[in-house]
Amino acid sequence: MNLPSATVGTPALHRGLALLAAGLLGASPAWAAPADVQHGAAIAAQGVPPAVAACVTCHGAKGEGGPGFPPLAGQGASYLREQLDAFADGTRANAIMAPIAKGLDASARADVAAWFASLPSGIAPQAAGPADPKDQGAWLVERGRWADGIPACASCHGPGGAGVGEHFPALARLGAAYMQAQIDAWKSGQRPPGPLGLMQGIAKKLSHDDISAVAQYYASRPPSAGQP
Ligand code: HEC
Ligand code: HEC
Repeated sequence: MNLPSATVGTPALHRGLALLAAGLLGASPAWAAPADVQHGAAIAAQGVPPAVAACVTCHGAKGEGGPGFPPLAGQGASYLREQLDAFADGTRANAIMAPIAKGLDASARADVAAWFASLPSGIAPQAAGPADPKDQGAWLVERGRWADGIPACASCHGPGGAGVGEHFPALARLGAAYMQAQIDAWKSGQRPPGPLGLMQGIAKKLSHDDISAVAQYYASRPPSAGQP
């Protein structure tokens, strides 16, 4: 994404970025039937035997995630649905999720996405602390690295990495290994570019050190109220 140079170094404007892009992306198409959240809850808890295992066995009873399994609670319904569609059509390559997503039809995928989106993430949006130039993670998250054209993660993923709206997922609870796998997937074309290609462009500029610094930064922040 080409950012006007006037926005460089102005966090308030960066924060507006996500909202602006969210507006451009729009809501679900008018013809889409409303999701059946109760049906989604049943899929999450029981799966659809035999092909589809219960989501909660890996993603946690409340969608809180666990080691190796990303949290789903409170992520945008559109974001979750698009990921499931991408696992199903193979554009997001993953051997575990592919058969599960393929085992659900498009409306079941929308239903289960709506269910997890309705659960609280337990991540409170937190203001940035004082930035220490030696803290690579804090610097990247709160300010970005404009020399390399990397905007602050918080400008799209929200204060405290809590996520913004339907299309900008929360980062605060993602493990370093999962995050790195996603960055690698964008670099190698194993994950779709996502809305406006925003994240794929950024992923190409992020190093292994950057990702471990970002993950460490979020993990080191005080746990927020209301764990899911
Ligand atoms: C056997 C374990 C397992 C089960 C069961 C499972 N998942 Fe997953 N899921 C994973 C793993 C592992 C990943 C990470 C894939 C990757 O690295 O791209 C994942 C990723 C996802 C993602 C992408 C999350 C993100 O932040 O982008 C979604 C959405 C998802 N799963 C939904 C579901 C749903 C809905 C169900 C139930 C119908 C389900 N999963 C069942 C293991 C599982
Ligand atoms: C200009 C907006 C923007 C900025 C800045 C941004 N991201 Fe993203 N990011 C996105 C979007 C949009 C997605 C969702 C992509 C999709 O739908 O596949 C995303 C997704 C991600 C994901 C995948 C989440 C998941 O659950 O699988 C990771 C990891 C990530 N971003 C890390 C970062 C890091 C680290 C930074 C800062 C160095 C950053 N992002 C900065 C827009 C942005």
